[in-house]
Amino acid sequence: MFTATTKILGKAQRGHYAVAHFNINNLEMVQAIVNAAMKLKSPVILATSEGAIQYAGMDYLYALAKTASEQANIPIALHLDHGRDITIIQKAINIGYSSIMIDASPEDFENNIALTKKIVQLAHRKGISVEAELGTIGGAEDEVSSRKIRYTDPLQAQEFVERTGCDFLAVAIGTSHGAYKFQGEAQLQLDRLREIRKKVRIPLVLHGASGVPEKMVQEAQHYGADLTGVEGIPEAQVKAAIKEGITKVNTDTDLRLAFDAAVRKAIMTKPKDFDPRHILAPAREAMQKVAEQRIWVCGSVGKAR
Ligand code: G3H
Ligand code: 13P
Ligand code: ZN
Repeated sequence: MFTATTKILGKAQRGHYAVAHFNINNLEMVQAIVNAAMKLKSPVILATSEGAIQYAGMDYLYALAKTASEQANIPIALHLDHGRDITIIQKAINIGYSSIMIDASPEDFENNIALTKKIVQLAHRKGISVEAELGTIGGAEDEVSSRKIRYTDPLQAQEFVERTGCDFLAVAIGTSHGAYKFQGEAQLQLDRLREIRKKVRIPLVLHGASGVPEKMVQEAQHYGADLTGVEGIPEAQVKAAIKEGITKVNTDTDLRLAFDAAVRKAIMTKPKDFDPRHILAPAREAMQKVAEQRIWVCGSVGKAR
């Protein structure tokens, strides 16, 4: 039903393009992302964070993703993002996710290895692949990241992958979660990425990669949002990172911004209309546009077959 994440990312790695991972929280997000991927004939990875699972329930999110994948004629994987709670990880493995992430990145090197290795053994027994994280991706979201970036060390990355047997590795090269990524401009460490790539053969993952497009921010602000100080990763830098060997690009914040701007606009411009469908349909459309753009950035257009 779902496509194995290893299959999607293995093909992408061989073809020198990346695949977009999008975080999902509700029906409209799933439809927006899958419509975009179908339109562009691209594979796609739907991901649920522990926060999303707390909000909507794993069974509901699983059912939404399953329906999408049964109806769509493109490869779709379902992934657990930033797994930290063993009960949630175990449930995702049992219910049939394509892959899970164990994020033990706040731990020291040895503990990160020990925890990751344990999860790899659990997941591999059921044929499910595992993403792990070494270094820390910065960001403002307390659930999934610390505020400071701890860059991934290439030599440690090699040892980490060898000792844990993980299938994909999230690297810290200067990206950051959320909309408030930096004070100043993004500066990805592509030299570091190149060194990691030389030492690690498995697909590498770029978290915190949202672009925080200025037009979308202005639109949201026009309808009342306060987004002072937001900053994203320019698309050119994401493309450069893909060229240096990134195979999976995670996006959540840009979908949230599109949703926010569209909902605010619908409510403010049609004060007499209180039908949730009239408020959420424009948000779904706006998120689809974001998803399409991210798929173009990844270079996976037409790669569904
Ligand atoms: O990288 C994390 C995603 O943006 C998920 O965020 O924990 O608020 O759902 P969340
Ligand atoms: P953004 O906050 O930049 O969209 O990153 C999302 C992410 O890394 C999900 O794992
Ligand atoms: Zn992340």
